[in-house]
Amino acid sequence: MLTEKYRPLHFKDILGQKCIPQLERKAKEFKDSLEKNDKLKETLDSKEARKLYELKTHLLFYGPPGVGKTTTAKVLARYVFGKDWQSHYIEYNASDERGIKVVRELIKKNAQTAVKKIIFLSEADNMTPDAQGAMRRIMEVYEKNNTFILDANNPNGIIGAIKSRCADYFFMPVDDKSMLKIMVTILKKEEIDFSSDFDKEQLVELAKYFKGDVRGTLNKLEQCINFDTKKLEWVDLKDYIPIKGLMLMARDGQFQDAKTQLEIAFIDNKLRYQSIIEDFYKFVPEIYPDCLESQIILFRELPKVARDCEQLKYPIISLVGFLSWIWALNHTPK
Ligand SMILES: Nc1ncnc2c1ncn2[C@@H]1O[C@H](COP(=O)(O)OP(=O)(O)O)[C@@H](O)[C@H]1O
Ligand SMILES: [Mg+2]
Repeated sequence: MLTEKYRPLHFKDILGQKCIPQLERKAKEFKDSLEKNDKLKETLDSKEARKLYELKTHLLFYGPPGVGKTTTAKVLARYVFGKDWQSHYIEYNASDERGIKVVRELIKKNAQTAVKKIIFLSEADNMTPDAQGAMRRIMEVYEKNNTFILDANNPNGIIGAIKSRCADYFFMPVDDKSMLKIMVTILKKEEIDFSSDFDKEQLVELAKYFKGDVRGTLNKLEQCINFDTKKLEWVDLKDYIPIKGLMLMARDGQFQDAKTQLEIAFIDNKLRYQSIIEDFYKFVPEIYPDCLESQIILFRELPKVARDCEQLKYPIISLVGFLSWIWALNHTPK
């Protein structure tokens, strides 16, 4: 997979994220303090050493999927621990059992070892508040040897007690220019020919298409590469279902078709629900151009859809729900 093969190894290769220089400084500070601390422990009394450990070192990464959060955590671990970084880095996904499993694992693992570690917890906002509470205690108890990095799509999904122990960093959708650069760099390394004007146009389109999600973009790019001929074979981006089109379908009564297309967009084409909601928002005025009242009803519904998408295991339920609103404003439910 291109995404794994070209996952950046150094801070400088993570493009389009303003928080990276800041994090790089943090990493340096962290590395220095580890080294200093080891020396301090030998020479000074432990009070002094402990003070250094009291630095607010846990981190919270906010941002949408596919923009470099996991990558940054790995880069940071590599920077701090060097060659042997993998034995100092653990990654968990908090959505397993809503986080309970993770908390249990962490306690088990940490009771057994005193090796300094960076523990990366993705989707921390999927943990129940109880699990987060337990997590916070673990963060405190094992603070001495462990730096936690929590990753969350939604800042509101993290309990205050954890937030107050962490420094936060915001990851943004990657801008089109950086996206293009990431793709071109990979194409060059893979020696793929993209010299035609058409290839260039399509690349510019693709850079915009996933609205800053690098993972989605690279996966799509990979589908378009013929590795035997070293040429690009564009699976037309128009194959992707434009959201406006299916909103119009729902309005005009083809609800079933619209629903199927939305499912394809979300499930097969892996369009993020955030980007679908953004499109919903953008196109509402064009779906009912002459009826402000209908627009307002839909605008009032959208924040609920967004909230539900964050909370439901299957966001598609909520997205289809919004389509049915569009339908209902133009049809009387029987
Ligand atoms: N800012 C970025 N610069 C360069 N490559 C990136 C960037 N963000 C993501 N990628 C690419 O996308 C892949 C997935 O990114 P990842 O860090 O796992 O995203 P997430 O934010 O969901 O944790 C990476 O392996 C890398 O190839
Ligand atoms: Mg991730």
